[in-house]
Amino acid sequence: MNLVLQSLSRASVCWLLIAVTRVLAQYTNLPDVAPGVFNVSARIEIEHTNISAAWDALTDFPAYPKWNPFVRSSIAVDVANISLPSQRPVENTQLLLRVQIPALPLPVNEYTPDNPLATQFSYENVTHVQPELGRLAWEAYPNPIITAERWQALSVNKQNGRVLYESREVFSGPAAALTQQLLGEKLQKSFDAQAQGLKMWLEGGYQP
Ligand SMILES: *[C@@H]1O[C@H](CO)[C@@H](O)[C@H](O)[C@H]1NC(C)=O
Ligand SMILES: *[C@@H]1O[C@H](CO)[C@@H](O)[C@H](O)[C@H]1NC(C)=O
Ligand SMILES: *[C@@H]1O[C@H](CO)[C@@H](O)[C@H](O)[C@H]1NC(C)=O
Ligand SMILES: *[C@@H]1O[C@H](CO)[C@@H](O)[C@H](O)[C@H]1NC(C)=O
Repeated sequence: MNLVLQSLSRASVCWLLIAVTRVLAQYTNLPDVAPGVFNVSARIEIEHTNISAAWDALTDFPAYPKWNPFVRSSIAVDVANISLPSQRPVENTQLLLRVQIPALPLPVNEYTPDNPLATQFSYENVTHVQPELGRLAWEAYPNPIITAERWQALSVNKQNGRVLYESREVFSGPAAALTQQLLGEKLQKSFDAQAQGLKMWLEGGYQP
């Protein structure tokens, strides 16, 4: 009798541990990637929208200045840096980004001036465009001292129907630790601000 009780309670402790781990491991639609030296990330739930409208906003580069306080401009270019006819991300094409680190205060629109002290430029390769998974990624151009790939992912929270937007950029390489010291906190603010800006844009009655 005692033995049965003991093994029963052991089984329920095990079951409880599994259940707790499941709850603590937060749902994500970001892919598993190798950990780097550091990463910055953001996640936010957006109401009154759907995946298709959110995907449209994230892939419509010419509209970025209207809502994005971090990436003020993204231009899709070919290997010769000539602007492409379609300003949407395509795998294995390049992006010229003009960003604000830290991000501009919200709200922003296409007339909001840059803060010259926060302005940086970056050259990226589009690595993944996966509309069926709601995922997008681009990576800073091959650089011997730093690697940085940024993923963005969309999914629906089945409990409340809201769209979950997530983004994460993992930094590695010899210059990653210094980048973290110099820019880590400001980059994190930029990621949070872009998530907030996207939410404002989509909840504000945006029509694709
Ligand atoms: C991102 O950073 C967090 C906090 O430091 C860490 O727990 C997580 O494993 C990192 N993820 C990746 C993919 O590097
Ligand atoms: C394209 O622009 C990037 C960023 O300014 C630069 O690093 C790269 O060398 C340019 N490529 C060509 C072919 O000019
Ligand atoms: C750019 O991304 C594509 C798609 O993932 C990949 O095949 C290609 O090797 C990448 N180019 C560079 C220079 O990293
Ligand atoms: C998604 O939202 C957009 C913008 O509000 C709307 O035009 C479109 O009809 C919606 N699509 C679906 C499938 O509900």
